[in-house]
Amino acid sequence: MRMGLGKVPGPMAFLLLAGALAAAHSSTTIHRPTWDELALVQPYLTARGISAATLARLLARTQAAHAARVREGDLDHLVFYMLQSTRFTPRPPIEPALSAKALVEGLEPEPRAAFLTGATSRDVTVPPAVQMRITDLMSSFERPSRDERSVFFSQLVQAAFPEGPGLAAAVGREYVRTMRFIYRKEFLAPRGAPGSAAVHDLYRERGLSTDTAVESGFVIHTGLAVLNALEPERRVRRVLVVGPGLDLAPRTGFLEESPPQSYQPWAVMDALVSLGLSRLDDLSVVAADINPRVVAHLRQVRKAPPSLWLASALADDAAVVVAPDYRDYFAQLGRAIGADAPASGLRKVVRVGAPSARALAAAETLDIVTERLAGPGFDLVIATNIFPYFDDLELALAMSNIASMTVPGGALLHNEGRPVLGEITTAVCLPFEQSRHVTIATVRGTTAPLADVVFLHRKATRR
Ligand SMILES: C[S@@+](CC[C@H](N)C(=O)[O-])C[C@H]1O[C@@H](n2cnc3c(N)ncnc32)[C@H](O)[C@@H]1O
Repeated sequence: MRMGLGKVPGPMAFLLLAGALAAAHSSTTIHRPTWDELALVQPYLTARGISAATLARLLARTQAAHAARVREGDLDHLVFYMLQSTRFTPRPPIEPALSAKALVEGLEPEPRAAFLTGATSRDVTVPPAVQMRITDLMSSFERPSRDERSVFFSQLVQAAFPEGPGLAAAVGREYVRTMRFIYRKEFLAPRGAPGSAAVHDLYRERGLSTDTAVESGFVIHTGLAVLNALEPERRVRRVLVVGPGLDLAPRTGFLEESPPQSYQPWAVMDALVSLGLSRLDDLSVVAADINPRVVAHLRQVRKAPPSLWLASALADDAAVVVAPDYRDYFAQLGRAIGADAPASGLRKVVRVGAPSARALAAAETLDIVTERLAGPGFDLVIATNIFPYFDDLELALAMSNIASMTVPGGALLHNEGRPVLGEITTAVCLPFEQSRHVTIATVRGTTAPLADVVFLHRKATRR
């Protein structure tokens, strides 16, 4: 077993690992908002029993809960890696949703109900095929490796479970926990089964996933094209990407041929430059994520511009008809920030150029709910696939922080359609202006296309 953290207690060791990842470059410009700085959402907070006296406690509690969710999200990724990687074992990959189905539906009704409500996992045993993969994974951690995922997960296991001999059992417990979430999300929630939570409720409790996909770049490109059409003269110089994500070990579409990578900061730059909204030599993109692993990756690629392995999660086969606009987007993606090799279907490699790496000005560890960056404001803030993880109160705090960092006239693009956002964004003077439905593909035999929505808000120039 590769060691490095010694015998430090579990959560503490985890925080040390996280801290070490981000310590290489810590920022002093991050702070928690004061009660006065939250003036615009104070009525919203007061109605929920929060006052100047209790704010600090709320923010500290929220930040601690989010740290636990970062850890849980990383452990979810460990489980997906353990089930699907072909690098550490010759055994066939196990599809996580099918594994969840077999596990849950193999239980008698009573233990099944107790398991799904979270009351107990006592009667749930890890299936032999999964157990063998866990054993192989643990053995692989004993061998030196240069594989980034193997190194990361080995360190994660060390930090999360420093007790040593019980490691395989601990990973087994994480498998069982993750399977409960997947079953509830994939099989109970869509049916509205009795006692099941809706998918959006599950997201507000679950670990914080860092999953990211090329498709979210298309959504942002669409939103930026709208902004460009509204204001052809607008120039964007300072951009904040909140929660850029890192493709490490997703539940679906896990590809090991590419190293872990973050697409969003590059896709945003590419869209800005190709639409004529920005120039690379006059662009400064700051990426801020709660997960120190994402931040460490982005700090690394600022120094060594990466090759991005772009692969759409879409099957691109007889059942799926990719929208022509999305196909065009994919074909041109990357040309404004580097060089792309010829695409084969919805796959290609883009070599990010040095000027683009320079435009990635900083990567910061930031909890957007409880913290904000001081300093010059941003012309544009991007936040996709992050708001579903927040409850309404967290959303209000996050929006207040985002509004505080946006210059008057600056824009916010996101893809969260929760109605309460209208009230919140109006309160923080970042009102909704436009939205676009973005079709990515149609799937034969289904009525609704695979689609997303992009929302554009602009900060009022004066209150
Ligand atoms: C599901 S990923 C989405 C990645 C990317 N934005 C996209 O759309 O492809 C969510 C990202 O938001 C980050 N995140 C979650 N909660 C956050 C918070 N409170 N503050 C900052 N980042 C957060 C996660 O660590 C993760 O990297």
